[in-house]
Amino acid sequence: MEAKGKVTLNYGPDKNLDLPTYGGSIGPDVFDIRALYGKTGMFTYDPGFMSTASCQSRITYIDGDKGVLLYRGYPIEQLAVHCDFLEVCYLLLNGELPKKAEKEKFDWTVTRHTMVHEQLARLFQGFRRDSHPMAVMVGVVGALSAFYHDSLDINNPEHREISAFRLIAKLPTIVAMAYKYNMGQPFIYPKNDLGYTANFMRMMFAVPAEDYVVNDVLVRALDRIFILHADHEQNASTSTVRLAGSSGANPFACIAAGIACLWGPAHGGANEAALQMLMDIERDGGVAKVGEFIKKAKDKNSGVKLMGFGHRVYKNYDPRAKLMQETTREVLDALGLHNDPLLKLAMALEKIALEDEYFVSRKLYPNVDFYSGIVQRALGIPTSMFTCIFSLARTAGWIAQWNEMISDPEQKIGRPRQLYVGPTQRDVVPIAKRI
Ligand code: SDX
Repeated sequence: MEAKGKVTLNYGPDKNLDLPTYGGSIGPDVFDIRALYGKTGMFTYDPGFMSTASCQSRITYIDGDKGVLLYRGYPIEQLAVHCDFLEVCYLLLNGELPKKAEKEKFDWTVTRHTMVHEQLARLFQGFRRDSHPMAVMVGVVGALSAFYHDSLDINNPEHREISAFRLIAKLPTIVAMAYKYNMGQPFIYPKNDLGYTANFMRMMFAVPAEDYVVNDVLVRALDRIFILHADHEQNASTSTVRLAGSSGANPFACIAAGIACLWGPAHGGANEAALQMLMDIERDGGVAKVGEFIKKAKDKNSGVKLMGFGHRVYKNYDPRAKLMQETTREVLDALGLHNDPLLKLAMALEKIALEDEYFVSRKLYPNVDFYSGIVQRALGIPTSMFTCIFSLARTAGWIAQWNEMISDPEQKIGRPRQLYVGPTQRDVVPIAKRI
């Protein structure tokens, strides 16, 4: 990388250090601190990595102030309208949108990896039926590495490619199996004559007792939801996948680590928490209770947050939230649920929050999770499955980011340092003398 300029750090009397700066294609410049510790004996201090670029990337760009989200340069608003999810997977993995023949080959290959090893199905028996499906997902996806010894050499591009296909293809099957296991219904095998998302919906909702009728409007809506969740720069779970991958761990273990991180309510678990929040307000009195709830969400001591609101990067409206709201309306209209009380409540909550100084001054806007629970619930997806759906979609982005990390000559094993504030050295007193 060619330096764009430099910054000079003054770290003591007559102690100056020049640090090179680099510029990207768009977005903030960086200054390179790799020489800092060696030259100054000091670390940077940045809990939560609020001001830290962990890598170079060509995959996703976010402008939090303008509410812009680009996958490989294409605006999310255009991808959500003109593409299907597998097209976006291809884009994230390869950097370009596929031509017709490339798309057909990609879809054909993904389709033929949708089945899982029959022994994997037996793995589910070890879980309680009422296990949270995300606990099952972490376990089963991590266990995939026990089945694919033939493709675990991360330095072999062919192994990385087949692992990418296996993960993108099998995540829907595993998510559907987690749901069926929880419901006590038999697993439904994938069908190769169905598209990716239709196949997933059939594996989720079909029963052996009757034929499953694909609803194209609902399939298109869920496919768009997958697109909106596919990648998002260096978020917590993507950073987890990169960090796990930096040690040389196999892709299945890395994706399982990403799923574990995404589960948290501050991250991918927020969609489940946001819908629960809306249902609780609805139960307690609906729109009439919004003011009381907002008051609690503003009170630090209440332990209550307006789930689905706020974002580390977006200090404007999350573009995905707008698209999610549109998709929610489409689905509710298609299902004749024009007066869904939760949508009305969500919109009332959003309106009041966006007029409230507390949220305005902190630039807290709806994020991707605020509406996604309402539309997924309308699609028949239970609340506990929302983050599984998020994991399914984000697997494409996680793999693209993992691949980029593996191929990046600058990458080393990730190993941050710390500001130590614990006890200085002291001697052990044997227990017999410890009073
Ligand atoms: C995702 O990173 C990504 O890209 C993630 C994601 C992706 O696609 O991968 O976009 C997906 O995780 C979306 C975010 C989902 N999480 C939620 O909706 C949970 C609710 N949101 C918050 O927990 C919070 O907004 C975060 C975690 C999303 C962001 O937290 P930050 O950047 O660390 O900001 P913060 O917690 O320091 O908040 C700044 C201020 C604080 O108040 P002050 O200390 O300044 O007085 O805003 C307040 C916070 O208390 N605040 C909220 C709030 N979010 C922040 N107050 C009430 N309700 C909220 N939702």
